[in-house]
Amino acid sequence: MTNNFTLHNGISIPSIGFGTWKTPDGETAIQSIKKAVDTGYRHIDAAAIYDNEVGVGDGIKASGIDRKDLFVTSKLWNSERGYDSTIKAFEKTLKDLQLDYLDLYLIHWPAAAHQFDNWKALNAETWKAMEKLYKDGKIKAIGLSNFMPHHLEALLEETTIKPMVNQIEYHPGFIQEECVNFCKTNDIQVEGWSPLGRGEVLDHPLLKEIAEAHNKSEAQICIRWALQNGVVPLPKSVTPHRIKANFEVFDFEISDSEMKAINALDSIGASGLDPDSIEF
Ligand code: A2P
Repeated sequence: MTNNFTLHNGISIPSIGFGTWKTPDGETAIQSIKKAVDTGYRHIDAAAIYDNEVGVGDGIKASGIDRKDLFVTSKLWNSERGYDSTIKAFEKTLKDLQLDYLDLYLIHWPAAAHQFDNWKALNAETWKAMEKLYKDGKIKAIGLSNFMPHHLEALLEETTIKPMVNQIEYHPGFIQEECVNFCKTNDIQVEGWSPLGRGEVLDHPLLKEIAEAHNKSEAQICIRWALQNGVVPLPKSVTPHRIKANFEVFDFEISDSEMKAINALDSIGASGLDPDSIEF
């Protein structure tokens, strides 16, 4: 298991990202980012809607890490879809994070059919702005989040530059097989949000059994399982010992039969956030 995956444009992406959804802005964001960088995380997953990008940026600064050694992602919020608004939102995120480029920028949620008659055109127009920012060298890679195969298929008809990443909900009990397979076939790297099922899948007996067999925690099993399935997990924590433990997953291997058993788990812990019927 390597510490990095490679995107289809040749950019290397650290295989575990540090999640920041629900991390409070200010001192908590600063301290958790510092702790993550100290621990060895080299990939931070942020978003404008998390309302903590200033704290995340302060944390990056406070960590003392060289910018070139860190992979930083952010996401375009739904209200900013469209060409000009995407460019503006990107500049605001960059300012809040106090950076002069991003490693990865994602469209946070697809415009969906039930919300917009022109959903395909709206996603395509937003994507054009992403391509422009990429071509201008302001972003090293561009991608999507929460795009399901039908959203991807529609967008791929319009793209000059194929998305490098799709970030979706992914944890034991919610493996979104069709979407993951679609991405793999199209050489789009899958990232998994809420790899611990927001903490809700951790007391499943199968995970307990496998964790005991490896002398690891259930959370470490979830993270390692995502990696072994070729997915970039993005565990979030503001608790120092969890931040550290969630990164200690490179010294053991889940067996093929254990992987199969986790892959086959019935649906558990899904957030219920449906890219086709969600209202924000
Ligand atoms: P906290 O941030 O208070 O440590 P996910 O990444 O799946 O969305 O899960 C995040 C949730 O899981 C947060 O509530 C986080 O709490 C909790 N969490 C993070 N790491 C662990 C862990 N190792 N064990 C148990 N809960 C964890």
